[in-house]
Amino acid sequence: MSDTAPLAVVTGANRGLGLAFTARLLDRGAAVVAACREPDAASELRELAEGRAIRIVRCDVTDEGAAGDLIAAIGDRKVDLLLHNAGIFGGAERTLLDVDEAGLRAAFETNAIGPLLLTRALWSHLADGARVVCISSLMGSIADNGSGGRHAYRMSKASMNMLVRCLAHDGRERGIIVAALHPGWVRTGMGGASAPLSIDESVDAMMRTLDALDPSRSGGFFDRFGETLPW
Ligand SMILES: NC(=O)c1ccc[n+]([C@@H]2O[C@H](COP(=O)([O-])OP(=O)(O)OC[C@H]3O[C@@H](n4cnc5c(N)ncnc54)[C@H](OP(=O)(O)O)[C@@H]3O)[C@@H](O)[C@H]2O)c1
Repeated sequence: MSDTAPLAVVTGANRGLGLAFTARLLDRGAAVVAACREPDAASELRELAEGRAIRIVRCDVTDEGAAGDLIAAIGDRKVDLLLHNAGIFGGAERTLLDVDEAGLRAAFETNAIGPLLLTRALWSHLADGARVVCISSLMGSIADNGSGGRHAYRMSKASMNMLVRCLAHDGRERGIIVAALHPGWVRTGMGGASAPLSIDESVDAMMRTLDALDPSRSGGFFDRFGETLPW
């Protein structure tokens, strides 16, 4: 990887939105540490990586010590963008009685606890003025929950949203900007085939929003166009 290019760390980089973010970042000359659970099976990511400034690193965000290999790949450099993209639903429950306990715990581990512990582990490796972006969901909005259901996902993304506000306070003195972004409903493994948005439509808009983040927006929750969403 180049020593001078901006450095990004992306979780869940092997498919869906994470793969597209990784491609966009490489295209604009950033170096990327691309984290995924199974590098050997990440064929699209490995194809994308050929000849590019990328390190593919095994990282399950729910593992204790998940950051160890990322830190080794980062080395002496500073991270300019930490993108917490990895996420799961943790169940397809419609009502309280359908909630699956293991799924609920996995959703919290993946969507909230993992990003917190990973950020803590990488904190001293972040550049002053770095951006930490959590790919959240409008389903994590308490104000927007007009239908219920998907308890595990909604609760864990609401928790991720709170993490964003806490980290914004933690990072203020170093100029670290922290934001939660909602991608829209997108045709990925998670979003399914009937979602209205293509991956390109969503990620292109989110990249523009990401570029426009400044300290005045730190701690906020935004849609892909950068419009503020209700908590
Ligand atoms: N698609 C939508 O409509 C939509 C809407 C709102 C928010 N989002 C959010 O957008 C983010 C990306 O989702 P997507 O739509 O691209 O979904 P996706 O295609 O299902 O991809 C999910 C990614 O997360 C990774 N992942 C899951 N658990 C992980 C773990 N424990 N450790 C490391 N990586 C893990 C997956 O890796 P594996 O391949 O190993 O499973 C995969 O790379 C998620 O946070 C999701 O909640 C998506």
